[in-house]
Parts: sequence; C-alpha cells; structure tokens
Amino acid sequence: MKEKQNPNYVCVHAGQLKDEVYGGATAPIYTSTAYDYRGEGTNLYPRYFNTPNQVALGKKMAALEHTEAGMIFGSGMAAISAVFMAFLKTGDHIILQRALYGGTAHFAAAEFKNLGIEYTMIEHVDQESLSLSLKPNTKMVYIETPSNPLLEITDMALVSAFAKANSLTTAIDNTFASPINQTPADFGIDIILHSATKYLGGHSDICAGTVSCSQEHIESIWKTAKNYGGSLSDQTVWLLERSIKTLALRVKRQSKNAKKIAVSLEKNPNIKKVNYPGLKSHPQHQLAKKQMNAYGGMMSFELKNHIDQTAFLERLEVIFPALSLAGVESTILAPTTTSHSLLTPKEREEQGISDGLLRFSVGIEEPSILIADLENAMKKSRKKK
Ligand SMILES: Cc1ncc(COP(=O)(O)O)c(C=O)c1O
Repeated sequence: MKEKQNPNYVCVHAGQLKDEVYGGATAPIYTSTAYDYRGEGTNLYPRYFNTPNQVALGKKMAALEHTEAGMIFGSGMAAISAVFMAFLKTGDHIILQRALYGGTAHFAAAEFKNLGIEYTMIEHVDQESLSLSLKPNTKMVYIETPSNPLLEITDMALVSAFAKANSLTTAIDNTFASPINQTPADFGIDIILHSATKYLGGHSDICAGTVSCSQEHIESIWKTAKNYGGSLSDQTVWLLERSIKTLALRVKRQSKNAKKIAVSLEKNPNIKKVNYPGLKSHPQHQLAKKQMNAYGGMMSFELKNHIDQTAFLERLEVIFPALSLAGVESTILAPTTTSHSLLTPKEREEQGISDGLLRFSVGIEEPSILIADLENAMKKSRKKK
C-alpha cells in the first residue's frame, strides 16, 4: 500500500516491537544483558547489536533510509568509525570530501595515519577531482551532504556512478538532511550514516548513531563493530525509537521555518552571507532541489563587521548558544571555537570556515519569534564607532 511508504507512517510503525503480553501501544523495553543461549537462533547480547530493541530500531532505520538493514550505535562517531574500520585496512586508500564534520576530519587525521590508511580530501566533489584522486588501492568514497557547517551540496548520483565504475564502496553522513529530506540509497549510495544525537533523537537528550545499508554490508560492519563495542543501551535505543515517531513532523516544521528565516536573513543589511540550500542564491540550489525533498533546518551565516559576534550571541534571548544541533529548540554556535576547533586555522581557511561564521539550527518555534530574536540581538550588538 502506497500510504505505508508515507514518512509519518514509517516513523510511527516500521520495525515496531509489539507488546504481546499486555497489548500496550508502545514497545516494551528489553533490558536483559543475559539471555538463555540454549534456544534456537542467535545468542542475544547487547554488544552483538542483536537485542530485541536494537533489532527493531535497526529495521525502522532501514525502512526510513530505503535499505535492507540497519544497526544502532552508541554515538555518530561510533557508527562512522565502525564503517571505516570494516571497509579499510592498512595499505588501503579512501577519498574524503574536504567539507566534513570536524570530528570525522579529525578521525582521518589522527587515526588513519596510525593505521597506515591513506586518504585524499577533495575540495569540490566532481568527476574530475574523483578521477584525479583515484589510486589502485582506493576502496571507499565518503561524503557529507549538506555539509557541516557550510551547507555545501554533493552530487550523490555522480559519486555513486563513479564508485560503481571503479568497484568502490560509498558512504554518506546524512545527519544534516535526515531521512525525511534525503534518502541517499535512492541515488545509489551504499552506506548511510547518522549522528542520531541530532534530528533522529531531536530533543537534545540522546547520544546515538545509526548505519543503514544492504544486509551484505551490515554483516561486514557487524563483524568489526562487535570487536570495538560501540553499542547503545536498550533504554536509550527505546527512547530513540520513541523520538523517531515524530521525526517527519519535526523535520518538516524545521525545514519550513529555516527557509522563511533564511529568506529574511538574506535581506538583512547586517548580514554578509547566508548559506542555505533552499535559497536561489545558493550555488548548488538546483542540485539540492534534485536530490532533497526539502532543504532542512540547518543554515549558517556571517554577520557584517560592524556587528560584534560575541555580543550578538550574548544578546540572543530565545536562540540558545549550544554545541550540537537539530533539537526542537533553536541553537547557534561559532564553528571556529566549537565543532571545527580541532582543525588548524589553515584547514578551516581552506574549507571556507571564517571566524565570523555562525551555524544556526532552527527549531520548531514560531519563525516570527526567531527572526525577532535575531534582529533584536543584531540591533543591540553594533560596534561603537
Ligand atoms: C554531521 C555530523 N556527523 C557526525 C557527528 C558525530 O556524531 P556524535 O557526536 O553523535 O558522535 C556530528 C556531531 O556533531 C555531526 O554534526
């Protein structure tokens, strides 16, 4: 039935564990870490990612991302590192998009070197740069779209066609878009990752990660992941499953709010630049339109020099300066001192992340309240001449 593919239906019902004993509307939580090993089937154990709540949520993530299988991790980085470790070994090479979440870029710089894994970071992911980076030992291409914090868009169909032609595995960090706004598997991407700490959790109270992909790829990831032990406790798995029930509602509202605010900020004389893929001025707006259902709740912008950034952040009354993103409440941060502080100033400059850049995660509040908060803070933080 077509209605059963509706995102709200999938969010609420896919992979739902039934309460067979009492007939309750919500899933029971199975907290056991010890299960009878004598029966048929696999041995259940939380670190094996196979307890009832973990398996049920894996099915929901597979349904949301249009893949065969899914797995739940203790953080976004646990999921990302498990995928790297499953598909790369000493002597291999990976192509990474340069505009990546700071933690992922730092993982490459800190860990790949120790492990003897080569990597090439490419500025703009196109056919030419991919071909130039390809080596005989290349195994994987890893991208993030929209990127954090500049909201750059990468052409998923192009990456997947290149990878297939060269027998490479593709992985994407789909955190910023969420599966509501973008389903990379439909464009041929193999492995879809999320920091579930963001939109999937959505209430700034869960740290988790997810992987969605084919059953064959999940089996490879599982073999490595169980050794690293990055599983999530069943109580939190349950809470994440509960949160995902409202994912489509939240993300739809956040995307609508963000578009309204981006249009308003672009007209504001105190703003130098707004990065939002839903704006016609975004250099990859047409590509975003092709591969996204809506443009998401994330944007970044730069204040003009006559506004004091520190004072601006202090004068905001509704929008909360906070690390992390994608909660129901609006939050803002300066990437230079937070999410991208692990990069060197040169690396940040190469990525186009200026000290004046602010990353804004739009919540579900009324957009008029958020616009008024931003305008009011700008008015109160003009530098004295
Ligand atoms: C786009 C993106 N990917 C991955 C991560 C890492 O996720 P976690 O902090 O859940 O490990 C983050 C965290 O901010 C992120 O923003």
